[in-house]
Amino acid sequence: MKKSANTHGLKAVILVGGPGTRLRPLTDNCPKPMVPVVNKPFLEHTLAHLKLSGIEDIILAMSYLPEAIREYFGDGEHHGVRLTYCIEEEPLGTAGAVKNAAAYLDRPFVVLNGDNVFLEMDFNEVYTFHRDKKAKATIFMTQVDNPSAFGVVETDDDQRVKRFIEKPPPGTETSNRINAGGYIVEPEVLEEIPTGQHYMFEKGLFPKLLEDGQPLYGYTYNWYWLDMGTPQKYFNFNIDLLLSKTKSPLFQNLTGDGVYYSGENSEVHPAAKITGPVLIDSDCKIGRGASIKGPVIIGKGCIIGDSTSLEKTILWDKVNMGQNSRLKQCIIASDTIIKDNSKIENSVVTPSKTVPLSV
Ligand code: GDD
Ligand code: MG
Repeated sequence: MKKSANTHGLKAVILVGGPGTRLRPLTDNCPKPMVPVVNKPFLEHTLAHLKLSGIEDIILAMSYLPEAIREYFGDGEHHGVRLTYCIEEEPLGTAGAVKNAAAYLDRPFVVLNGDNVFLEMDFNEVYTFHRDKKAKATIFMTQVDNPSAFGVVETDDDQRVKRFIEKPPPGTETSNRINAGGYIVEPEVLEEIPTGQHYMFEKGLFPKLLEDGQPLYGYTYNWYWLDMGTPQKYFNFNIDLLLSKTKSPLFQNLTGDGVYYSGENSEVHPAAKITGPVLIDSDCKIGRGASIKGPVIIGKGCIIGDSTSLEKTILWDKVNMGQNSRLKQCIIASDTIIKDNSKIENSVVTPSKTVPLSV
């Protein structure tokens, strides 16, 4: 991972205020930033990446279930960053949430959608682009096959944005380059955002800056990118990390093969068969004759009964799998009990629900 120093003193605002509706049922009891990705809360990967880029002053803009996040991350000290929590009483929208943090933003800053994955982004390189273009704001762009699900960005040959259209109806898209969900913003742009009102970058601020002829630029990010918006995308992201298609600073050692432990005290019966890539967290028990065929991720304190088999599956924490069961292509949320002799495929299972997973 190429990273340069944060010579410009950039801060970052992470937007973590959405309810995570499309990730349900995974987000029924777990805010999206806390959803475990290779056994660590999703947000922890983003913080580690920012830290690696030298960005240590980070504002979490949130409105939905803030307590679980604050309880885990505290002031950020254990993660090598300084966290400030800006809580909205009512969701203020993407730009309104940043305005709510204006008191902390007196120099150019990075804004990230909390559900977009940019683990290979060199923020200082984007900032240099932004500064050289004398932009008021720079949008990180990526290319996708289905642009109408995103904010579509049209630029000229100099990368200056000509039009920004949020989620145009399918068939009307004029470009397959989209807003990847990250920006560099100059502090004076905050003056354009109304205080205490619901206001969006996508539908409010960007169209307004363009109307006013302000310099808005697009920076093309060509590396691994994802919107972790649905269980399918969540599943793919985990498997991609395990297969080493992209890397998190928290797991530099995953090579796409092998059996890895992200915690201690797990017991694997000598007559269990494990074929990597498999990641196992702490305090798990894997029984006699169990078969684990990677890619598989197993969270903390899981019990895999005798003769049970898992294939291409993600278990969160404290999943109790009975004996002689078979699971293939599943996500099993924390505290779920799977009875003996179960056979489950292509499903998301929580203690109270089972829904299909199509990947
Ligand atoms: N604090 C706060 N307050 N955060 C919010 C609010 C709010 O009122 N509303 C949304 N967010 C956060 C969400 O938690 C998420 O991290 C981010 O803002 C974007 O919201 P989504 O609901 O995930 O939007 P989207 O995925 O439909 O579209 C956005 O992302 C696309 C890339 O994945 C847009 O920015 C598109 O233009 C972009 O292409
Ligand atoms: Mg999203």
